Amino acid sequence: MLGNFSYHNPTKLYFGEESLSFLKDELKAYGENVLLVYGGGSVKKSGLYDEITDILKGCGKRIAEVSGVMPNPTADKLREGVKIARENKSDFILAVGGGSVCDYSKAVSVSVHCDDDPWDKYYIRFEEPSCEIVPVGCVLTMAGTGSEMNGGAVITNHEQHLKIGHVFGDDVMPKFSILNPKYTMTLPKYQMTAGIYDIMNHICEQYFSGEDDNTSDYISEGLMRGLIHASRIAVNDPQDYEARSNIMWTATWALNTLVSRGKSTDWMVHMLGQSVGAYTDATHGMTLAAVSLPYYRYIMPYGLKKFARFAREVWGISADGRSDEQLANEGLNAMESWMKELGLVMKISDLGVTEEMIEGIADGTIILTGGYKVLSRDEVVKVLKASM
Ligand code: NZQ
Ligand code: ZN
Repeated sequence: MLGNFSYHNPTKLYFGEESLSFLKDELKAYGENVLLVYGGGSVKKSGLYDEITDILKGCGKRIAEVSGVMPNPTADKLREGVKIARENKSDFILAVGGGSVCDYSKAVSVSVHCDDDPWDKYYIRFEEPSCEIVPVGCVLTMAGTGSEMNGGAVITNHEQHLKIGHVFGDDVMPKFSILNPKYTMTLPKYQMTAGIYDIMNHICEQYFSGEDDNTSDYISEGLMRGLIHASRIAVNDPQDYEARSNIMWTATWALNTLVSRGKSTDWMVHMLGQSVGAYTDATHGMTLAAVSLPYYRYIMPYGLKKFARFAREVWGISADGRSDEQLANEGLNAMESWMKELGLVMKISDLGVTEEMIEGIADGTIILTGGYKVLSRDEVVKVLKASM
């Protein structure tokens, strides 16, 4: 543990089947004009929308709505939400949905009282909020992103072929999040498994970096073992509450800043996946799945010891008689078999990427420097081509 850091997470969590009952107490602390934000209709179908509007009305709140927040929310949709929030003088935002709805609500929250265009300010110029921030609360319906307990807000601009995440500070993180694993049980299998891989990759992004002996890496190994175990149960029986609850809780801890403390982090799978997403609008977790193995196999020689440790500690492969290189290869092979077991998309061509898009996707890939190998643009192209 060689790094210097501070650790503070301001989001209060309510977890479990009874968790929605805490909403009315939380609402007391916030204003009367609530902006209710949700996606394309799953919350209406499940009945959650009615339950929540009943609670809001019971608390005397005036409700304005932004509906139809799409997966991979767009800059245009963000501008629409800001307008609705202003017209209704919203002083609290309640996000009900998955990572897209929660991310989007955070992006609206920092833009309502700000004159600049939010895309230019936060996603091109990467400025920090310089205006009043509208508080956000979250009722989560999908496990994966960790958005319920972090400051991330990813927005897509289709005209510019860019998908960019801004990680905001403590004051933008949800004030509270309600996590009921039951809500995730209506997810289609494709979304459930995409979410599971998103969780796995968040941990990998923070694990595959650095060479020091680090508490964060031991926590990560435990989270990964638990996730793999629960995922195998959930894929066979999506209604298994125990497995779904473990997946939901792991998602939160995978990306609420804990496991990155005291070390550098990689995040190149996300940079590649986001650029693929900007061109294809594909499901986030699947973009990560498709680029992961080509990327990890490419960088493995530069972080051999960690990849060997991953094989031993996460996949249970015995070190006896095996070199680090053999172990590292077997670890990635074990991950590949698990990914296939889950039915994940393993190639970007299966997400709609064509040869003609590769150069543009490479241009849109932000190259980060915290992992075992800093990629050149040519290497980005090579990794993308290996995923076709
Ligand atoms: O729109 P509705 O009808 O609600 O349907 C959604 C959507 O189609 C559906 N869904 C959600 N909960 C459901 C459900 N369907 C049935 N039953 C339920 N209980 O699932 C679909 C996907 O939802 P979405 O919110 O898009 O998924 P996810 O949670 O994976 O969020 C993806 C977004 O989060 C960003 C991604 O880039 C992407 O834009 N990320 C945010 C991060 C963060 N805040 O730190 C980090 C991540 O790496 C990620 O980049
Ligand atoms: Zn992710």
